[in-house]
Amino acid sequence: MPTSFPQRTLILLKTDAVARGLIGEIVSRIERKAGWRIVALELRTLDGALLERHYAEHVGKPFYGELVEFMSSGPSVAMVVEGENVVAGVRALAGRTDPLRAGPGTIRGDLATRVQENVIHASDCADAAEREMKIFFPDLS
Ligand code: RTP
Ligand code: MG
Repeated sequence: MPTSFPQRTLILLKTDAVARGLIGEIVSRIERKAGWRIVALELRTLDGALLERHYAEHVGKPFYGELVEFMSSGPSVAMVVEGENVVAGVRALAGRTDPLRAGPGTIRGDLATRVQENVIHASDCADAAEREMKIFFPDLS
């Protein structure tokens, strides 16, 4: 998929976000962005096999075991959002991985404290978005 409009990205509202009742807060921030629209959305509990595909780049890292435990501890919301510059745009809205380094006004900066429980995943480039959308929504055209 080209990086120009229309572009799609894969977002996860992580288990901490769902457990804390933040689905509406986070979806609302994404929905308010002009020209973006949600094209798929599902509440689901992720298992180890799916997470191994999704987080393939992190398998074997010191934090991987805890990451899988956290990401499979309850339901997440998986969604695909379409719009202009949406891959970089959602990463900017999400803020830095470590919430203490994420700026105020960002989702992580405003809502999270710990690097693991950082409430949202967003694809980090257009190729990753393509790969991740196939994992979560294989039937999405
Ligand atoms: P994500 O993939 O979830 O959108 O986050 P990201 O690109 O900002 O960060 P990444 O480096 O891909 O890390 C994936 C997720 O693993 C957890 N993490 N824990 N304990 C740690 O040092 C550590 N480092 C990363 C976080 O939940 C991070 O979002
Ligand atoms: Mg990442």
